[in-house]
Amino acid sequence: MERPKSALALVLAARPDLPVYCVRPHAAKKAADWFARNFPGDVLYAVKANPHPAVLDAVRAAGVTWFDVASMPEVELIGGRFPEATMAFMHPVKARSAIRRAYAEFGVRIFALDSHDELQKIIAETNGAKDLNLVIRLAVSGDYAEHKLSGKFGAAGPEAVMLLREARAHACELGVSFHVGSQCMRPEAWRIAMESVSDIIRQAGVTVDIVDVGGGFPAAYPGLTPPPLSAYVDEIRTAFEAMPVLENADLWCEPGRALCAEAGSHIVRVELRKGDALYLNEGGYGALFDAAHDGLVYPTKLLRAKGGPRRPLKPFRLYGPTCDSIDALKGPFFLPGDVHEGDYIEFGMTGAYGSALATKFNGFGEYIEAQVSDAPMLSMYGLARAPHSNVVAMAKSR
Ligand SMILES: Cc1ncc(COP(=O)(O)O)c(C=O)c1O
Repeated sequence: MERPKSALALVLAARPDLPVYCVRPHAAKKAADWFARNFPGDVLYAVKANPHPAVLDAVRAAGVTWFDVASMPEVELIGGRFPEATMAFMHPVKARSAIRRAYAEFGVRIFALDSHDELQKIIAETNGAKDLNLVIRLAVSGDYAEHKLSGKFGAAGPEAVMLLREARAHACELGVSFHVGSQCMRPEAWRIAMESVSDIIRQAGVTVDIVDVGGGFPAAYPGLTPPPLSAYVDEIRTAFEAMPVLENADLWCEPGRALCAEAGSHIVRVELRKGDALYLNEGGYGALFDAAHDGLVYPTKLLRAKGGPRRPLKPFRLYGPTCDSIDALKGPFFLPGDVHEGDYIEFGMTGAYGSALATKFNGFGEYIEAQVSDAPMLSMYGLARAPHSNVVAMAKSR
């Protein structure tokens, strides 16, 4: 297929049977450029958010050469694609074989952990290596994020203090990391987290070489308009400079969503309309997982040839293609009232945790991929031309 300029051009030309994943490498490049230029420290791309090769290449082309990897397949992907890259294995729980292979075969030296037992695993599987950079994941509040990440990982209280002291003895460089939760709407979440991290470091009485403020930087979605990213960077810079316990530490961040959300959209087809319910060929077991399971609302656009009559927008319930009744997207999703079977709808901002989360459940999960060069529907980086009318309607409705 000839490379289309836009999602609309693609639909008009091909009227595809399968959902289409539109990749916009230029949007990932713009976002990574912004972080590389404005974040006052090192930027690691969190590969899990979108491991598409074109997105990885765009992030790399912006000068981001450090990657947050969380599994052996991610280590292999980045190690194979960018042999010169620095990888940080940031999952606090790793298979022994993954630790061993990451260290010995791929030169990984940065490992995250949040427990005594994981520290012992890392020491054993690297044969007591002396060149380890150990990053202790600390628990912080997830109260300001749309998608909380505080339930599973993170050492706290006296256990965290002991772990910092214990890890110091085995670390070439010792770091602390935290994650305020994904799609964090309040910059001050980082200041609050950094104050509690300072407290733990003070109690431990150890020298810390790295402060990794994690991911959580937001993208724009209908009804979720974050402050500008510069407000986040300013808050982090000020809070970092105010950390009384540091002498000469490096600052890192691990954005996922903020680097790739704008780099993807999904075109789906309406297979049936029943009143105000639309049955789609993509859904909650596919790239629209977060809309089904987290209540995230994506901007939508009906893709029809220009020039037709403009219909008033109406709220619709959406269902994915599988037989499971939880395959439903609450929305509300506003679309022209005459939307019908055979129409194509583009969901914007699906670049982060979109196709990365898709499954093959029920025999679905196949899709067409296309690189397009039009602007994302919304942008934190000045890329969107104008908010789509549907988006304005959705934002107003909340
Ligand atoms: C350790 C770690 N770092 C970074 C990220 C990326 O977070 P976000 O996409 O919110 O920026 C995640 C997401 O789960 C994570 O677990």
